[in-house]
Amino acid sequence: MKNLFKKQKINKATIKNRFVRSATWENMTTEDGHMTDSLYKIYEELAEGEVGLIITGYANILKEEQPNPGMMGIYNDSFINEYIKLTDLVHKYDSKIIMQLAYGGTKTTYNTSDRIIYAPSEIPERSTNTIGKAMSKSDIDYVINAFAEASLRCKKAGFDGIEIHGAHTYLINQFLSPYYNNRSDEYGGSFENRMRFLLEIYYKIREKVGNDYPVLVKLTASDFFDGGLTFDETREICKKLESVGIDAIEISGNIHGKAKSMVGQSFDGHTINAEGYFREYAEIISDEVNIPIITVGGLANIENIEQMLHETNISFFAISRPLLTEPQLIKRWKNNDRKPVKCVRCSRCRTSEGNYCTIFKR
Ligand SMILES: Cc1cc2nc3c(=O)[nH]c(=O)nc-3n(C[C@H](O)[C@H](O)[C@H](O)COP(=O)(O)O)c2cc1C
Repeated sequence: MKNLFKKQKINKATIKNRFVRSATWENMTTEDGHMTDSLYKIYEELAEGEVGLIITGYANILKEEQPNPGMMGIYNDSFINEYIKLTDLVHKYDSKIIMQLAYGGTKTTYNTSDRIIYAPSEIPERSTNTIGKAMSKSDIDYVINAFAEASLRCKKAGFDGIEIHGAHTYLINQFLSPYYNNRSDEYGGSFENRMRFLLEIYYKIREKVGNDYPVLVKLTASDFFDGGLTFDETREICKKLESVGIDAIEISGNIHGKAKSMVGQSFDGHTINAEGYFREYAEIISDEVNIPIITVGGLANIENIEQMLHETNISFFAISRPLLTEPQLIKRWKNNDRKPVKCVRCSRCRTSEGNYCTIFKR
């Protein structure tokens, strides 16, 4: 009988339960991405609160490519010691922690005039209107190497794995998307070519960290607009990723702020759900691959999560905003206080003073 509080494996890492803190940018580092006391405190609270697997907020792999303020950095070796302190802290509570690695790109309005921002093609991002520089082959190699170097730093710092951010219209998602990628070289055009950038990042990371180190990917189920990446393509990407050795896939969507208001709408033949926005998408993928699938988005009620566990092959359940409101949520559920989350999913948690629950004012 499957149980939310039973151990699960991702590659060689044992996770004490099926709950994941989905990557959540906290906006609480120093200006150049170094750890602060408030950030250590947040991670300690999550670990103390029995989150099985904590995914850090997205960390920038290149100093010059910081898509948002207050992000954790992983762009050089100066970070390793402070992250050893972080991973030691989390491990004291028997939780696991992995770092999410990202290249932001044009889905950003932060300091855009001061830096070169890479993109597959010179197509304005739909929400920010930012236009990037179409990458040359040497730009592509530069970013691939930065992902790989950052992964090795994570391993040295004691992280239990890494997650490649391939979702939410950031650079990797844009390479996958036929809307954003109109290249005519080996990185664009056919579906195989659009996947090449993600695969080369993965191969280079694997070369650096070895076969036993958990490497996860976060993907968007669909671009959720006509002309974008479709769910059928994402299904094929997942099969390909499984075949090359990816250890787990988190299925998300680039609509988290709006998803609540989109409940009931159908895209690519599937529906956004009130509980588990992308549940239908994750469920189908979980039937098609044999690696753990993580669902994220709108999870609020332990009874519904248990039902998902029993009715589908989804392995892990990831939560972001409710853990800003209640870092002790998983512990409370484990202790049989099964009330739904307090978070009302208003998405007002991003502030210039740091990201926190502004409703319940923790
Ligand atoms: C304040 C905030 C920061 C976020 N930062 C990240 C991030 O760094 N990387 C990422 O992949 N998703 C990020 N997300 C999206 C979440 O991981 C998650 O996919 C989304 O919030 C839906 O889950 P939820 O309904 O449990 O909040 C962020 C969301 C919020 C609210």
